[in-house]
Amino acid sequence: SFKPLVFSGVQPTGNLHLGNYLGAIRKFVALQENYECIYCVVDLHSITAQLVHDDLPGQTRAITAAFLAAGIDPAKHIVFNQSRVPQHAELAWIFNCVARIGWMNRMTQFKDKAGKDRENASLGLLAYPSLMAADILVYRATHVPVGDDQKQHLELTRDIATKFNNDFSERIAELDVGVEMMMGEERVNGFFPLTEPLIEGPATRVMSLRDGTRKMSKSDPSDLSRINLTDDADAIAKKIRKAKTDPAPLPVDPDGLASRPEAENLVGIYAALADQSRADVIRDFGGRQFSEFKPALAELAVEKMAPIAAEMRRIMADPGYVDGVLRDGGERAGALAEETMTSVRDIIGL
Ligand code: ADP
Ligand code: NA
Repeated sequence: SFKPLVFSGVQPTGNLHLGNYLGAIRKFVALQENYECIYCVVDLHSITAQLVHDDLPGQTRAITAAFLAAGIDPAKHIVFNQSRVPQHAELAWIFNCVARIGWMNRMTQFKDKAGKDRENASLGLLAYPSLMAADILVYRATHVPVGDDQKQHLELTRDIATKFNNDFSERIAELDVGVEMMMGEERVNGFFPLTEPLIEGPATRVMSLRDGTRKMSKSDPSDLSRINLTDDADAIAKKIRKAKTDPAPLPVDPDGLASRPEAENLVGIYAALADQSRADVIRDFGGRQFSEFKPALAELAVEKMAPIAAEMRRIMADPGYVDGVLRDGGERAGALAEETMTSVRDIIGL
């Protein structure tokens, strides 16, 4: 079977928020213990929605600094930015020829991001999941920690791997570059693994503080909708105080959160920050008013986030250091990616 390997990425666009931290970056840190990990600032993804950015290199450094500040160790694992390793784009092109247009058209993130004027979205936005599949599979990664919003893209990644493995099964066997694996009931010699998402815990989908039906997002025009990693204590307290809630107190039973998305979201955030379950939080706060719960949540958020923000600022003050981390990570990632691509070119006959 394939060697266990973790890959994940974050786009260098806009402010990192609590959703990115709880849904992704915090898990990246935890996985270092038991896996080899590759963490990528996906700059090529950030130009799919908007081609021109004010300061893409600065944004890339900021995400890198957030990775390091949160506790990712670039000496033991790999941290780099996507565009440094052109094999990502090369494999994405091949995957564009593996994937079907219908698969891309079904992606809910494309529908959300393209909006009503779909004909005017970039072709890159449509093909985004193909590049994401390449990011993962160019390292033949087996596990991807992500938020719940990426589940569908991971399914598509497995569809691409499956079709490639099937379409080229004879070449893969002939060149002896496959790995024994189960595909459904069948034992096959696959070249790409069927990568599993790692989506778990109480905050896999952090919602907007202004609207419990929308996910907290970098692209939400309302800054009150999200807690940014770089917000100070006053800003965090204010945003939580102003967070939308219904008038009832917190339920006395966790089941009582089911039809109350705003309450469920705040309880989920508290649980994740405190390393507790929702039931633990309800045991402590059930029956209390939001006017009591919100200050406790704000205090906890500041306690957990402020040290990361401070460390991030310290790291950002030395852009030369950050660039060095990316350069070194890029070289190591590039060597691994080239190994995969050498086989891929042989398999296809390029
Ligand atoms: P965004 O979705 O804010 O533009 P990215 O696409 O760069 O951010 O996502 C980076 C990581 O953060 C992904 O693993 C994604 O699933 C996760 N993520 C993004 N938003 C949330 C959220 N609201 N709750 C939980 N995880 C999230
Ligand atoms: Na996202």
